[in-house]
Amino acid sequence: MSAQQFVSSISPHGGNLVNRVITGGERTELLNKSKQMKKLELSSWSLSDLELIAIGAFSPLTGFMTEQDYVSVREHMRLSDGTVWSIPITLPVNDEKASTFEVGEEIALICENGKVYGILHVQDKFTYDKKLEAEQVYLTNDRKHPGVQNIYNKGDVYVGGAIKLLIRPSHEPFENFYLDPKETRKMFANLGWKTIVGFQTRNPVHRAHEYIQKSAMEIVDGLLLNPLVGDTKSDDIPAHIRMESYQKLIENYYPQNRVRLVIFPAAMRYAGPREAVFHAIVRKNYGCTHFIVGRDHAGVGDYYGTYDAQKIFSNFSSTELGIQPLFFEHSFYCKRCGNMASAKTCPHDKRDWVVLSGTKVREMLRNGEVPPVEFTRPEVAEILIKGMKEKS
Ligand code: ADX
Repeated sequence: MSAQQFVSSISPHGGNLVNRVITGGERTELLNKSKQMKKLELSSWSLSDLELIAIGAFSPLTGFMTEQDYVSVREHMRLSDGTVWSIPITLPVNDEKASTFEVGEEIALICENGKVYGILHVQDKFTYDKKLEAEQVYLTNDRKHPGVQNIYNKGDVYVGGAIKLLIRPSHEPFENFYLDPKETRKMFANLGWKTIVGFQTRNPVHRAHEYIQKSAMEIVDGLLLNPLVGDTKSDDIPAHIRMESYQKLIENYYPQNRVRLVIFPAAMRYAGPREAVFHAIVRKNYGCTHFIVGRDHAGVGDYYGTYDAQKIFSNFSSTELGIQPLFFEHSFYCKRCGNMASAKTCPHDKRDWVVLSGTKVREMLRNGEVPPVEFTRPEVAEILIKGMKEKS
């Protein structure tokens, strides 16, 4: 079986791949000019948003959201022009700092090292209702939720406006796995892939992940394994350990010519359903035609129903979304089937299923215990145990 071959190169969201990366003489000029500008120090999260906007991963966004787009996204999961967009991309600033900026001026976006990374043309600054954002985007106002916690920790004012990127943030130690959307698009074309499935993950790839990826690979030309390596919560497995395990897994268990490993340098929001839509749109910008949404995508704790992140897609037509989501049931190894399966394909009792929670697996790894081979490939387990030991 093969997926429809009608897409030669999928259109970026909104029609054009945004490019706000400034180079050459213009860059030198702006770097000079920025010395006279007011400065705003970015968090690692905002720096990552800045870059993702600039390279077109967040097309059609050309900057941090103004109030009109922010409210529209928060309330309706659409930009003010109607384009589907489910997560606010905003630049939080504390009150005191924000009061020094004037609408219409350009400010320099710096990092802790004082280096100017970009420029923001201030088009708007506005206060926002944190509770409303928590309830509408995260579907809870519980401060134990990491995304909600972040809302309450950040500045009270959002500064909106178009950006320019002057210096590319470093992606060390993953520089070899970093590609821009225009580069992934070129890579897919060179590989001759017309249909590409994107896979988001913030975890090691366990057997269930492998199973749903490979099920999807049966119907498309290639897999973009696209792990998120930006900010994650402190008990998630660090990206450098995960990256080592992905490489090992691909080396041992995947056909080399049908998978590519590229990092997704974004912050994890843990916004469940809304983040699933956002993740799909961004992968469309990277050139994927299909996107996997499995069990509790981008979820945390038990804030979201197992399939809420799939159901949310019914709010949008396939034309306005433009990328085909592929939905997978909760998957596991069934001892009686002797196979990976889901309730869709396995008739046996739950007692035959090897199912472990993320918390349980992390606890096993911390204790140096190898999770069952039906759950994790031994080569992966070895790397995770070593990594967790080093971490502690
Ligand atoms: S996420 O926060 O990045 O979504 P994770 O890395 O665990 O978390 O999941 C990556 C993708 O695999 C998501 O689409 C998720 O829904 C899916 N997934 C994870 N575990 C399973 C499973 N056991 N069965 C089916 N899908 C799964």
